[in-house]
Amino acid sequence: MKTSGSYPPQYDQLSTIEQSIWDRLSNSVVDRHCPGHTPTFGSLAKDGSPRLRTVVLRGCDADQRRLTFHTDQRSRKWQQLQSDPRASMHFYFPKAKLQYRLQGSVMLERATERTQQIWQRMDHSAQDCYRVKTAPGTFVPEPTSRAVDTAGDHDGYRDFTRVHLRVTTIDWLFLSAAGHRRAHFAWTESGQEQSWVAP
Ligand SMILES: Cc1cc2nc3c(=O)[nH]c(=O)nc-3n(C[C@H](O)[C@H](O)[C@H](O)COP(=O)(O)O)c2cc1C
Repeated sequence: MKTSGSYPPQYDQLSTIEQSIWDRLSNSVVDRHCPGHTPTFGSLAKDGSPRLRTVVLRGCDADQRRLTFHTDQRSRKWQQLQSDPRASMHFYFPKAKLQYRLQGSVMLERATERTQQIWQRMDHSAQDCYRVKTAPGTFVPEPTSRAVDTAGDHDGYRDFTRVHLRVTTIDWLFLSAAGHRRAHFAWTESGQEQSWVAP
């Protein structure tokens, strides 16, 4: 018989689960060794097919339900998001046995006061990623083509952008020998919904 004895107490109630999700995501921004620091981000290509890639989580605003990462405006993902802002993020925390699947739509930020501030504080090596002359995703004849072009003639800021995912649903899954638990959270114009889900 399965018991609830082994569940962390915050996983007994939907409200405390929701809080634990935002706490863990906020920590994932600052803890470079946490698996949540590098989630998988999903967008939709023009033909409707899914596209996935790893990104570095740079921001979490629980009040705004917003997650942020940086990217190059020349990248495929940026182009995809301009055509279709629907997107998702996936997190897996192996030690905690948690999976988070978040969905929402993106807000694209470029050439704002905030991007300027972040750019000025960024390491030169990180800025170099945006200085490459050849747009990310371009087919090139040599594996070193991108590296050779690193000393590009523009400072990279032109292509530095932020992507903000405004979260509208979260699917939370906790794996436990005592019985898995799963929960659903959604935010609509009429308010918030939350429910347990069969795992
Ligand atoms: C650990 C890791 C972190 C990454 N972080 C980012 C990131 O924050 N932003 C980004 O645009 N690409 C990042 N990438 C590269 C992407 O996964 C992807 O290869 C690249 O952005 C091109 O994706 P696209 O063609 O779908 O635009 C990262 C890759 C890895 C392996």
